[in-house]
Amino acid sequence: MATSHTWALFLGVVLLASAAMGAAPRKPVPVPFGRNYVPTWAFDHIKYYNGGSQIQLYLDKYTGTGFQSKGSYLFGHFSMDIKLVPGDSAGTVTAFYLSSQNSEHDEIDFEFLGNRTGQPYILQTNVFTGGKGDREQRIYLWFDPTSSYHSYSVLWNMYQIVFFVDSVPIRVFKNSKDLGLKFPFNQPMKLYSSLWNADDWATRGGLEKTDWSKAPFVASYQGFHIDGCEASVEAKFCATQGKRWWDQKEFQDLDAFQYRRLQWVRSRYTIYNYCTDRKRYPTMSPECKRDRDI
Ligand SMILES: *[C@@H]1O[C@H](CO)[C@@H](O)[C@H](O)[C@H]1NC(C)=O
Repeated sequence: MATSHTWALFLGVVLLASAAMGAAPRKPVPVPFGRNYVPTWAFDHIKYYNGGSQIQLYLDKYTGTGFQSKGSYLFGHFSMDIKLVPGDSAGTVTAFYLSSQNSEHDEIDFEFLGNRTGQPYILQTNVFTGGKGDREQRIYLWFDPTSSYHSYSVLWNMYQIVFFVDSVPIRVFKNSKDLGLKFPFNQPMKLYSSLWNADDWATRGGLEKTDWSKAPFVASYQGFHIDGCEASVEAKFCATQGKRWWDQKEFQDLDAFQYRRLQWVRSRYTIYNYCTDRKRYPTMSPECKRDRDI
């Protein structure tokens, strides 16, 4: 009797503790570049260090460069540690994104817009579903992304897409299928990253130009973590199963602590949010209504 009582108490404490623990995705396991990725273009503008556990992308006036994942994935957790172009990076854009390969494509984007020395980077995110994007959000970061590595990751399951910077959720895109909205769920995506010159739009509509005397511009990467359902091998399985860790209850929504952190980012670092752009969208897009703070 006493034992079962103690046992019940113990169980209760364990359950409480796990409920309060929340839903930070699993800690990424760093692997070498070649495990998950291959260069896409301008191979000579990628440099490898420590057996490929770190790489650098080079942008000069001749070309930028990029790489992509070997596999295609349907759901999972994808993260990259990036140290962005230091110094005068105005006009350069570093991107890390997931994209499907067809015309009505799905896409989940991180885009880092460089700036003049000492001026803040902008992080722009976007989500495309069925070929439709126009869901830009822009924030400043709360640290200097050029002085050390920070992790940028995406958690993607049937319920939500969460953008994380380190462990802080900066954006959530909920599955709003019930509101008639497309959600990426049946098209595998590959991961891509690139560094290129975009001084025609990235710097406040092309106001400032890339200063080529500062070239080459160099972005550094490590981590290369992918934990997803590989679709070429198990496409049917990926679409129908619900047993992987990212499908579980604690990853179907943010917890209270994560919502507070999201709110903190929103209120302090937002530059632009399409959800609140009444000029562009007189009626708020349906998925925005899922945002608790708007
Ligand atoms: C660059 O810095 C200026 C001044 O702080 C800021 O207004 C701008 O948003 C920053 N980013 C870009 C891409 O221009």
